[in-house]
Amino acid sequence: MPKALLSDVAVESLAGRRVLVRADLNVPLDDALNVTDETRIRASLPTLQRLRSAGARVVLLSHLGRPKGSPDPAFSLAPVAARLDALLGGGVHFVPDLVGQRAREAVAGLAAGEVVLLENTRFDPRETANDPELAAALAEMGDDFVLDAFGTAHRAHASTEGVARAVAASGGHAWAGLLLERELTFLGDALESPDRPFVAILGGAKISGKIDVVEALLPRVDRLLVGGAMANTFFLALGLEVGESLVEPDRVEMARELLDRAGERLLLPVDVRVASEISADAEVRVVARSGVAPGDLIADIGPATEVLFANEVREARTVVWNGPMGVFELAPFREGTVALAHAVASAADGGAVTVLGGGDSAAAAEAAGVADRLTHISTGGGASLQLLAGAPLPGIAALTDRESA
Ligand code: 3PG
Repeated sequence: MPKALLSDVAVESLAGRRVLVRADLNVPLDDALNVTDETRIRASLPTLQRLRSAGARVVLLSHLGRPKGSPDPAFSLAPVAARLDALLGGGVHFVPDLVGQRAREAVAGLAAGEVVLLENTRFDPRETANDPELAAALAEMGDDFVLDAFGTAHRAHASTEGVARAVAASGGHAWAGLLLERELTFLGDALESPDRPFVAILGGAKISGKIDVVEALLPRVDRLLVGGAMANTFFLALGLEVGESLVEPDRVEMARELLDRAGERLLLPVDVRVASEISADAEVRVVARSGVAPGDLIADIGPATEVLFANEVREARTVVWNGPMGVFELAPFREGTVALAHAVASAADGGAVTVLGGGDSAAAAEAAGVADRLTHISTGGGASLQLLAGAPLPGIAALTDRESA
Protein backbone atom coordinates (compact mmCIF):
# COMPACT_ATOMS: atom_id res chain seq x y z
CA MET A 1 0.00 0.00 0.00
CA PRO A 2 2.15 2.90 -1.26
CA LYS A 3 -0.08 5.75 -0.09
CA ALA A 4 -0.09 7.79 3.10
CA LEU A 5 -2.60 6.36 5.57
CA LEU A 6 -4.72 8.10 8.17
CA SER A 7 -4.11 5.09 10.41
CA ASP A 8 -0.40 6.02 10.55
CA VAL A 9 -1.04 9.61 11.61
CA ALA A 10 -0.36 10.51 15.25
CA VAL A 11 -3.70 11.59 16.71
CA GLU A 12 -2.14 14.54 18.59
CA SER A 13 -1.20 16.11 15.28
CA LEU A 14 -4.84 16.21 14.20
CA ALA A 15 -6.21 18.27 17.09
CA GLY A 16 -7.88 21.42 15.81
CA ARG A 17 -7.00 20.71 12.16
CA ARG A 18 -9.68 21.21 9.55
CA VAL A 19 -9.82 17.85 7.80
CA LEU A 20 -11.76 17.49 4.57
CA VAL A 21 -13.12 13.96 4.22
CA ARG A 22 -14.50 12.65 0.93
CA ALA A 23 -16.78 9.77 1.82
CA ASP A 24 -19.13 7.76 -0.38
CA LEU A 25 -22.50 8.39 1.26
CA ASN A 26 -24.29 7.51 -1.96
CA VAL A 27 -27.11 5.52 -0.32
CA PRO A 28 -30.56 4.65 -1.63
CA LEU A 29 -33.53 6.83 -0.55
CA ASP A 30 -37.22 5.95 -0.77
CA ASP A 31 -39.93 8.30 -2.09
CA ALA A 32 -40.25 9.94 1.32
CA LEU A 33 -36.46 10.53 1.25
CA ASN A 34 -35.67 8.04 4.00
CA VAL A 35 -32.37 6.19 3.79
CA THR A 36 -33.25 2.57 2.97
CA ASP A 37 -29.77 1.05 3.28
CA GLU A 38 -27.23 2.73 5.53
CA THR A 39 -24.35 0.31 4.90
CA ARG A 40 -22.19 2.99 3.32
CA ILE A 41 -22.89 5.47 6.12
CA ARG A 42 -21.87 2.89 8.73
CA ALA A 43 -18.78 1.96 6.72
CA SER A 44 -17.68 5.62 6.89
CA LEU A 45 -17.95 5.84 10.68
CA PRO A 46 -14.50 4.54 11.73
CA THR A 47 -12.67 7.35 9.92
CA LEU A 48 -15.06 9.99 11.24
CA GLN A 49 -14.83 8.64 14.78
CA ARG A 50 -11.06 8.61 14.67
CA LEU A 51 -10.93 12.23 13.48
CA ARG A 52 -13.50 13.37 16.01
CA SER A 53 -11.82 11.73 18.94
CA ALA A 54 -8.53 13.30 17.84
CA GLY A 55 -10.22 16.71 18.05
CA ALA A 56 -10.15 17.42 14.33
CA ARG A 57 -12.80 19.65 12.72
CA VAL A 58 -14.32 17.52 10.00
CA VAL A 59 -15.60 18.89 6.70
CA LEU A 60 -17.43 16.03 5.03
CA LEU A 61 -18.05 15.73 1.28
CA SER A 62 -20.06 13.21 -0.72
CA HIS A 63 -22.16 12.80 -3.81
CA LEU A 64 -25.55 11.13 -3.85
CA GLY A 65 -27.03 9.69 -7.02
CA ARG A 66 -26.53 11.27 -10.39
CA PRO A 67 -28.22 14.70 -10.35
CA LYS A 68 -27.66 16.79 -13.44
CA GLY A 69 -25.18 19.32 -12.08
CA SER A 70 -27.75 21.53 -10.35
CA PRO A 71 -29.58 21.38 -7.01
CA ASP A 72 -32.37 18.79 -6.90
CA PRO A 73 -34.15 18.11 -3.57
CA ALA A 74 -34.53 14.43 -4.48
CA PHE A 75 -30.74 14.08 -4.20
CA SER A 76 -30.07 16.25 -1.14
CA LEU A 77 -27.73 14.87 1.51
CA ALA A 78 -29.98 16.26 4.28
CA PRO A 79 -31.51 12.85 5.13
CA VAL A 80 -28.02 11.35 5.22
CA ALA A 81 -26.88 14.06 7.63
CA ALA A 82 -29.74 13.15 9.96
CA ARG A 83 -28.79 9.44 9.92
CA LEU A 84 -25.13 10.26 10.39
CA ASP A 85 -25.91 12.52 13.35
CA ALA A 86 -27.90 9.72 14.97
CA LEU A 87 -25.17 7.12 14.33
CA LEU A 88 -22.39 9.36 15.64
CA GLY A 89 -24.39 10.46 18.66
CA GLY A 90 -24.70 14.13 17.65
CA GLY A 91 -22.27 16.81 16.56
CA VAL A 92 -23.14 16.67 12.85
CA HIS A 93 -24.24 19.86 11.09
CA PHE A 94 -25.59 20.11 7.57
CA VAL A 95 -25.14 23.00 5.16
CA PRO A 96 -27.29 23.06 2.00
CA ASP A 97 -24.37 24.42 -0.03
CA LEU A 98 -21.12 22.89 -1.24
CA VAL A 99 -18.98 26.03 -1.43
CA GLY A 100 -19.56 29.74 -0.85
CA GLN A 101 -20.08 31.92 2.18
CA ARG A 102 -22.50 29.73 4.13
CA ALA A 103 -20.23 26.72 3.75
CA ARG A 104 -17.14 28.72 4.77
CA GLU A 105 -18.91 30.16 7.82
CA ALA A 106 -20.07 26.72 8.93
CA VAL A 107 -16.51 25.41 8.67
CA ALA A 108 -15.13 28.41 10.54
CA GLY A 109 -17.66 27.83 13.33
CA LEU A 110 -16.79 24.14 13.82
CA ALA A 111 -15.62 23.14 17.28
CA ALA A 112 -13.04 20.38 17.76
CA GLY A 113 -14.68 17.01 17.14
CA GLU A 114 -17.61 18.42 15.18
CA VAL A 115 -18.60 17.50 11.64
CA VAL A 116 -20.19 19.56 8.90
CA LEU A 117 -21.64 17.70 5.95
CA LEU A 118 -21.79 19.91 2.87
CA GLU A 119 -24.44 19.46 0.15
CA ASN A 120 -24.18 16.93 -2.69
CA THR A 121 -20.98 17.56 -4.66
CA ARG A 122 -22.84 16.75 -7.90
CA PHE A 123 -25.17 19.73 -7.53
CA ASP A 124 -22.20 21.66 -8.94
CA PRO A 125 -21.49 20.96 -12.64
CA ARG A 126 -17.79 21.52 -11.98
CA GLU A 127 -17.60 18.36 -9.82
CA THR A 128 -17.67 15.74 -12.57
CA ALA A 129 -15.60 17.99 -14.84
CA ASN A 130 -12.88 17.91 -12.16
CA ASP A 131 -12.74 21.69 -12.42
CA PRO A 132 -9.63 23.09 -10.69
CA GLU A 133 -11.56 26.14 -9.42
CA LEU A 134 -14.01 23.95 -7.54
CA ALA A 135 -11.18 21.77 -6.25
CA ALA A 136 -9.40 24.90 -5.00
CA ALA A 137 -12.57 26.23 -3.31
CA LEU A 138 -12.98 22.91 -1.51
CA ALA A 139 -9.31 22.76 -0.58
CA GLU A 140 -9.55 26.20 1.04
CA MET A 141 -11.93 24.75 3.62
CA GLY A 142 -9.45 22.14 4.87
CA ASP A 143 -5.87 21.87 6.09
CA ASP A 144 -5.65 18.19 5.18
CA PHE A 145 -7.67 15.76 3.08
CA VAL A 146 -8.81 12.18 3.65
CA LEU A 147 -10.14 10.05 0.82
CA ASP A 148 -12.44 7.42 2.28
CA ALA A 149 -14.82 7.15 -0.69
CA PHE A 150 -13.63 3.85 -2.08
CA GLY A 151 -16.84 3.55 -4.12
CA THR A 152 -15.98 6.77 -5.94
CA ALA A 153 -12.19 6.39 -6.10
CA HIS A 154 -12.43 5.40 -9.78
CA ARG A 155 -13.87 8.84 -10.63
CA ALA A 156 -11.47 11.72 -11.31
CA HIS A 157 -13.78 14.38 -9.88
CA ALA A 158 -13.12 17.69 -8.13
CA SER A 159 -14.02 16.27 -4.70
CA THR A 160 -11.84 13.15 -5.14
CA GLU A 161 -8.83 13.63 -7.39
CA GLY A 162 -8.84 17.42 -7.79
CA VAL A 163 -9.13 18.36 -4.13
CA ALA A 164 -6.45 15.84 -3.08
CA ARG A 165 -3.97 17.51 -5.42
CA ALA A 166 -5.07 21.01 -4.40
CA VAL A 167 -4.67 20.28 -0.68
CA ALA A 168 -1.26 18.69 -1.24
CA ALA A 169 -0.19 21.66 -3.40
CA SER A 170 -0.96 24.01 -0.55
CA GLY A 171 1.13 22.03 1.90
CA GLY A 172 -1.51 19.75 3.45
CA HIS A 173 -1.60 15.97 3.58
CA ALA A 174 -3.86 13.75 1.47
CA TRP A 175 -4.35 10.45 3.30
CA ALA A 176 -6.25 7.26 2.63
CA GLY A 177 -8.98 6.83 5.25
CA LEU A 178 -9.65 3.70 7.28
CA LEU A 179 -12.35 2.34 4.96
CA LEU A 180 -10.24 2.94 1.87
CA GLU A 181 -7.29 1.23 3.55
CA ARG A 182 -9.45 -1.78 4.40
CA GLU A 183 -10.75 -2.05 0.85
CA LEU A 184 -7.25 -1.86 -0.61
CA THR A 185 -5.95 -4.39 1.86
CA PHE A 186 -8.55 -7.01 1.02
CA LEU A 187 -9.10 -6.44 -2.68
CA GLY A 188 -5.48 -5.53 -3.37
CA ASP A 189 -3.95 -8.37 -1.34
CA ALA A 190 -6.33 -10.88 -2.87
CA LEU A 191 -4.81 -10.06 -6.22
CA GLU A 192 -1.20 -9.65 -5.26
CA SER A 193 -0.52 -12.43 -2.79
CA PRO A 194 -3.55 -14.68 -2.40
CA ASP A 195 -3.51 -17.78 -0.23
CA ARG A 196 -4.14 -20.66 -2.60
CA PRO A 197 -6.25 -22.16 -4.00
CA PHE A 198 -7.56 -18.79 -5.18
CA VAL A 199 -11.08 -18.98 -6.63
CA ALA A 200 -12.77 -16.03 -8.31
CA ILE A 201 -16.48 -16.01 -9.03
CA LEU A 202 -17.92 -13.66 -11.61
CA GLY A 203 -21.59 -13.17 -12.36
CA GLY A 204 -23.91 -10.43 -13.47
CA ALA A 205 -25.31 -9.52 -16.82
CA LYS A 206 -22.51 -8.62 -19.17
CA ILE A 207 -19.09 -9.86 -20.17
CA SER A 208 -18.37 -6.49 -21.75
CA GLY A 209 -18.32 -4.74 -18.35
CA LYS A 210 -16.03 -7.37 -16.85
CA ILE A 211 -13.70 -8.32 -19.64
CA ASP A 212 -10.77 -6.45 -18.09
CA VAL A 213 -11.45 -8.22 -14.82
CA VAL A 214 -11.48 -11.63 -16.52
CA GLU A 215 -8.21 -10.76 -18.29
CA ALA A 216 -6.57 -9.60 -15.07
CA LEU A 217 -7.82 -12.53 -12.98
CA LEU A 218 -7.16 -15.40 -15.36
CA PRO A 219 -3.38 -15.53 -14.92
CA ARG A 220 -3.74 -15.25 -11.14
CA VAL A 221 -6.57 -17.58 -10.16
CA ASP A 222 -6.65 -21.33 -9.75
CA ARG A 223 -10.31 -21.35 -10.81
CA LEU A 224 -12.63 -18.81 -12.34
CA LEU A 225 -16.31 -19.68 -11.88
CA VAL A 226 -18.65 -17.84 -14.25
CA GLY A 227 -22.41 -17.58 -13.73
CA GLY A 228 -25.17 -15.07 -14.36
CA ALA A 229 -26.13 -13.90 -17.83
CA MET A 230 -22.41 -13.47 -18.50
CA ALA A 231 -22.24 -17.23 -18.89
CA ASN A 232 -24.78 -17.17 -21.73
CA THR A 233 -22.33 -15.55 -24.10
CA PHE A 234 -19.82 -18.30 -23.27
CA PHE A 235 -22.56 -20.87 -24.02
CA LEU A 236 -23.01 -19.27 -27.44
CA ALA A 237 -19.27 -19.55 -27.96
CA LEU A 238 -19.58 -23.28 -27.25
CA GLY A 239 -22.29 -23.51 -29.90
CA LEU A 240 -25.09 -24.14 -27.38
CA GLU A 241 -28.72 -23.04 -27.71
CA VAL A 242 -29.51 -20.15 -25.37
CA GLY A 243 -33.12 -19.48 -26.43
CA GLU A 244 -34.20 -15.93 -25.70
CA SER A 245 -31.61 -15.39 -22.98
CA LEU A 246 -29.65 -12.19 -22.50
CA VAL A 247 -26.48 -12.44 -24.60
CA GLU A 248 -23.88 -10.18 -26.16
CA PRO A 249 -23.50 -11.48 -29.72
CA ASP A 250 -20.62 -9.10 -30.43
CA ARG A 251 -18.61 -10.68 -27.61
CA VAL A 252 -18.92 -14.30 -28.69
CA GLU A 253 -15.58 -14.33 -30.44
CA MET A 254 -13.91 -12.88 -27.40
CA ALA A 255 -15.62 -15.46 -25.17
CA ARG A 256 -14.32 -18.23 -27.43
CA GLU A 257 -10.81 -16.90 -27.24
CA LEU A 258 -11.02 -16.66 -23.44
CA LEU A 259 -12.26 -20.24 -23.18
CA ASP A 260 -9.32 -21.43 -25.28
CA ARG A 261 -6.86 -19.50 -23.20
CA ALA A 262 -8.32 -20.42 -19.81
CA GLY A 263 -8.64 -24.16 -20.41
CA GLU A 264 -9.72 -25.96 -17.25
CA ARG A 265 -9.32 -22.91 -15.08
CA LEU A 266 -12.62 -21.42 -16.28
CA LEU A 267 -15.73 -23.28 -15.15
CA LEU A 268 -19.14 -22.60 -16.66
CA PRO A 269 -22.49 -23.81 -15.33
CA VAL A 270 -23.34 -27.38 -16.31
CA ASP A 271 -27.06 -26.85 -15.77
CA VAL A 272 -29.35 -23.85 -15.58
CA ARG A 273 -32.78 -22.74 -14.39
CA VAL A 274 -34.94 -21.50 -17.25
CA ALA A 275 -38.40 -19.95 -17.61
CA SER A 276 -40.48 -18.52 -20.40
CA GLU A 277 -40.62 -15.14 -18.64
CA ILE A 278 -38.60 -13.31 -16.00
CA SER A 279 -41.25 -12.57 -13.39
CA ALA A 280 -41.91 -13.11 -9.69
CA ASP A 281 -44.35 -15.96 -10.41
CA ALA A 282 -42.48 -17.56 -13.30
CA GLU A 283 -42.50 -21.33 -13.60
CA VAL A 284 -38.94 -22.59 -13.43
CA ARG A 285 -37.43 -25.67 -15.11
CA VAL A 286 -34.00 -27.11 -14.50
CA VAL A 287 -32.22 -28.24 -17.67
CA ALA A 288 -28.70 -29.27 -18.65
CA ARG A 289 -26.89 -26.43 -20.38
CA SER A 290 -27.24 -28.42 -23.59
CA GLY A 291 -30.98 -28.74 -23.02
CA VAL A 292 -32.12 -25.13 -23.37
CA ALA A 293 -35.11 -24.81 -25.74
CA PRO A 294 -35.54 -22.00 -28.31
CA GLY A 295 -38.12 -20.04 -26.23
CA ASP A 296 -36.29 -20.37 -22.89
CA LEU A 297 -34.74 -17.63 -20.82
CA ILE A 298 -31.78 -18.69 -18.68
CA ALA A 299 -32.20 -16.96 -15.34
CA ASP A 300 -30.09 -18.85 -12.78
CA ILE A 301 -27.52 -21.59 -12.42
CA GLY A 302 -28.90 -25.08 -11.77
CA PRO A 303 -28.52 -27.41 -8.74
CA ALA A 304 -25.71 -29.50 -10.25
CA THR A 305 -23.77 -26.29 -10.84
CA GLU A 306 -24.43 -25.20 -7.26
CA VAL A 307 -22.69 -28.40 -6.11
CA LEU A 308 -19.87 -28.04 -8.64
CA PHE A 309 -19.17 -24.43 -7.67
CA ALA A 310 -19.57 -25.13 -3.94
CA ASN A 311 -16.95 -27.89 -4.17
CA GLU A 312 -14.48 -25.46 -5.70
CA VAL A 313 -15.22 -22.83 -3.11
CA ARG A 314 -14.87 -25.33 -0.26
CA GLU A 315 -11.27 -26.05 -1.26
CA ALA A 316 -10.36 -22.37 -1.64
CA ARG A 317 -8.23 -20.30 0.75
CA THR A 318 -9.09 -17.06 -1.04
CA VAL A 319 -12.42 -16.30 -2.71
CA VAL A 320 -13.27 -13.12 -4.59
CA TRP A 321 -16.87 -12.85 -5.76
CA ASN A 322 -18.44 -10.20 -7.94
CA GLY A 323 -21.93 -10.46 -9.43
CA PRO A 324 -24.95 -12.70 -8.78
CA MET A 325 -25.51 -16.09 -10.45
CA GLY A 326 -29.00 -15.22 -11.67
CA VAL A 327 -31.86 -12.73 -11.42
CA PHE A 328 -31.65 -13.08 -7.64
CA GLU A 329 -33.94 -10.13 -6.89
CA LEU A 330 -36.84 -12.34 -8.03
CA ALA A 331 -37.64 -15.31 -5.77
CA PRO A 332 -37.82 -18.00 -8.52
CA PHE A 333 -34.26 -17.20 -9.65
CA ARG A 334 -32.57 -16.70 -6.29
CA GLU A 335 -31.49 -20.21 -5.43
CA GLY A 336 -28.19 -20.40 -7.24
CA THR A 337 -26.90 -17.17 -5.77
CA VAL A 338 -28.09 -18.05 -2.27
CA ALA A 339 -26.51 -21.52 -2.46
CA LEU A 340 -23.23 -19.99 -3.54
CA ALA A 341 -23.42 -17.38 -0.78
CA HIS A 342 -23.73 -20.19 1.77
CA ALA A 343 -20.77 -22.02 0.23
CA VAL A 344 -18.64 -18.87 0.39
CA ALA A 345 -19.69 -18.25 4.00
CA SER A 346 -18.72 -21.84 4.93
CA ALA A 347 -15.32 -21.30 3.34
CA ALA A 348 -14.98 -18.14 5.45
CA ASP A 349 -15.94 -20.09 8.58
CA GLY A 350 -13.11 -22.48 7.72
CA GLY A 351 -10.59 -19.66 7.57
CA ALA A 352 -10.60 -18.69 3.90
CA VAL A 353 -10.35 -15.01 3.01
CA THR A 354 -13.64 -14.20 1.31
CA VAL A 355 -14.13 -10.86 -0.39
CA LEU A 356 -17.29 -9.70 -2.09
CA GLY A 357 -17.44 -6.98 -4.72
CA GLY A 358 -20.06 -4.35 -4.00
CA GLY A 359 -23.52 -3.67 -5.33
CA ASP A 360 -25.58 -6.69 -6.26
CA SER A 361 -23.29 -9.29 -4.70
CA ALA A 362 -23.42 -7.49 -1.36
CA ALA A 363 -27.20 -7.40 -1.57
CA ALA A 364 -27.16 -11.11 -2.40
CA ALA A 365 -25.06 -11.89 0.68
CA GLU A 366 -27.50 -9.88 2.81
CA ALA A 367 -30.47 -11.68 1.27
CA ALA A 368 -28.82 -15.03 2.01
CA GLY A 369 -28.20 -13.93 5.61
CA VAL A 370 -24.45 -14.61 5.44
CA ALA A 371 -23.02 -11.08 5.18
CA ASP A 372 -21.62 -11.13 8.73
CA ARG A 373 -19.62 -14.30 8.11
CA LEU A 374 -17.61 -12.99 5.16
CA THR A 375 -14.17 -11.44 5.54
CA HIS A 376 -14.96 -8.26 3.67
CA ILE A 377 -17.82 -6.84 1.64
CA SER A 378 -16.65 -4.01 -0.56
CA THR A 379 -18.58 -0.74 -0.59
CA GLY A 380 -17.55 -0.18 -4.20
CA GLY A 381 -19.22 -1.50 -7.35
CA GLY A 382 -17.41 0.03 -10.33
CA ALA A 383 -14.40 0.86 -8.17
CA SER A 384 -13.93 -2.73 -6.98
CA LEU A 385 -14.14 -3.97 -10.57
CA GLN A 386 -11.57 -1.44 -11.69
CA LEU A 387 -9.27 -2.47 -8.84
CA LEU A 388 -9.71 -6.15 -9.67
CA ALA A 389 -8.92 -5.34 -13.27
CA GLY A 390 -5.62 -3.93 -12.07
CA ALA A 391 -6.40 -0.42 -13.37
CA PRO A 392 -5.32 2.62 -11.35
CA LEU A 393 -8.00 4.49 -9.40
CA PRO A 394 -7.46 8.24 -9.98
CA GLY A 395 -8.65 9.28 -6.51
CA ILE A 396 -6.05 7.03 -4.93
CA ALA A 397 -3.30 8.00 -7.32
CA ALA A 398 -3.73 11.63 -6.15
CA LEU A 399 -3.02 10.86 -2.47
CA THR A 400 0.26 11.75 -0.83
CA ASP A 401 2.90 9.02 -1.16
CA ARG A 402 3.79 7.28 2.06
CA GLU A 403 7.47 8.18 1.92
CA SER A 404 6.76 11.90 1.64
CA ALA A 405 4.03 11.91 4.32
C1 3PG B 1 -21.42 3.82 -6.68
O1 3PG B 1 -22.58 3.77 -6.27
O2 3PG B 1 -20.90 2.88 -7.33
C2 3PG B 1 -20.57 4.99 -6.32
O3 3PG B 1 -21.18 5.79 -5.36
C3 3PG B 1 -20.19 5.77 -7.55
O4 3PG B 1 -21.34 6.31 -8.13
P1 3PG B 1 -21.32 6.73 -9.68
O5 3PG B 1 -21.26 5.45 -10.46
O6 3PG B 1 -22.58 7.51 -9.90
O7 3PG B 1 -20.07 7.53 -9.91
